[in-house]
Amino acid sequence: MTSIDDLGTDRLREHVATQLERSRARSVALTDAVDEHDLVRQHSKLMSPLVWDFAHIGNQEELWLVRDVGGREPVRADIDELYDAFKHSRSSRPELPLLSPAEARQYVGEVRNKVFDVLETARFEGRKLLDGGFAFGMIVQHEQQHDETMLATHQLRVGAPVLDAPPPPPGRPLPVQEVLVPGGHFTMGTSTEAWALDNERPAHQTHTEPYFIDTAPVTNAQYAAFIDSGGYADQRWWSDAGWAHVQHAKLVAPRFWERVGSEWYRDRFGVVAPVVPDEPVVHVSFFEAEAYAKWAGKRLPTEVEWEKAARFDPATGRSRRYPWGDEEPTEKHANLGQRHLQPAPVGAYPAGASPLGVHQLIGDVWEWTSSDFHGYTGFEVFPYAEYSQVFFGPEYKVLRGGSFGADPAAVRSTFRNWDYPIRRQIFAGFRCARDAKAAELS
Ligand SMILES: [Fe+2]
Repeated sequence: MTSIDDLGTDRLREHVATQLERSRARSVALTDAVDEHDLVRQHSKLMSPLVWDFAHIGNQEELWLVRDVGGREPVRADIDELYDAFKHSRSSRPELPLLSPAEARQYVGEVRNKVFDVLETARFEGRKLLDGGFAFGMIVQHEQQHDETMLATHQLRVGAPVLDAPPPPPGRPLPVQEVLVPGGHFTMGTSTEAWALDNERPAHQTHTEPYFIDTAPVTNAQYAAFIDSGGYADQRWWSDAGWAHVQHAKLVAPRFWERVGSEWYRDRFGVVAPVVPDEPVVHVSFFEAEAYAKWAGKRLPTEVEWEKAARFDPATGRSRRYPWGDEEPTEKHANLGQRHLQPAPVGAYPAGASPLGVHQLIGDVWEWTSSDFHGYTGFEVFPYAEYSQVFFGPEYKVLRGGSFGADPAAVRSTFRNWDYPIRRQIFAGFRCARDAKAAELS
């Protein structure tokens, strides 16, 4: 499949059903992996109880697909308020009279049965919400996004390991550390991707100066060199806000790292093991990424620079859907979808490289950019302001590219994620960029 727009109605229906089943299989695996106690307890103040995420997935599905698209009677109108993410902070959710795990399972199952009923006769036209199956795509992505959040909750959970996956493919050294991206115009965002969310729209012309971008995300070995050089104690590398935070929070290394003797170890889903040198660093905040980049004599890419590196084809001037072309991601292109429970080492996905030779832009780790989260020129709220618009502003930084825990259904080269610059429980790393000097352009 190249694009949802190319599918006929029957095949789109099948595609929607497959995607709904894939996301549900993942939600079930993440919630069946732990016992009742672990489902209802709060593993961190940053996260909801897993059972809240699970019932919230069902509730959003009910609101949009059963009631709105399907025009059916509510399944449980009485619980809408409990599962409204804007009504209750994550830290307060364990105190709510939530559905028990058994009730939540029953509820999401009942909703899903009705959705399959709705899907059988759904038309994919006539309303903007239905065009190209958008409402179904939005709900698939919503569930996959909560699955990634639940995976982050698993990372914060204390106890014996319960998740398992095979290791990613081996890495190999890349021929160069950085590549020059030519200056000039570039089409950013999309107006044609059927399941793209409002903040990715519309496609628009933008411009960059020439710049260099790293061919790979910053690795554990590179990041450890920053730590060893005293980077966390040297104010020169930090922004004022970053320095204040690193002092206050007493940060000395990425989250989940611990030094044993002369070696760094990390705790990943309950398994403690030495940090792998050539894996992208993960669980660093925007502030740490920014400080590392400055220490390295570089900077973080802007969001525009990141997307241009991921999409721009210098041979045609066209913006691709993915770094490797327009083809949907497969396991040869990128480390996505929780297929592996860790970022892959640098060089593990040669088939996923961009025409300019930039690797691993999609998958492995979300990449912090230097950009605040804003709507593009021509942005229109769709279908509700709480999806993106209420988050626009300087307090959030944009992350790009998806992580090993992000599903292909919820990652594109235009996909935008955002979070507070202090956040570290998410699967975030970064790569560096720098301005091109005049002498480097001849
Ligand atoms: Fe949600």
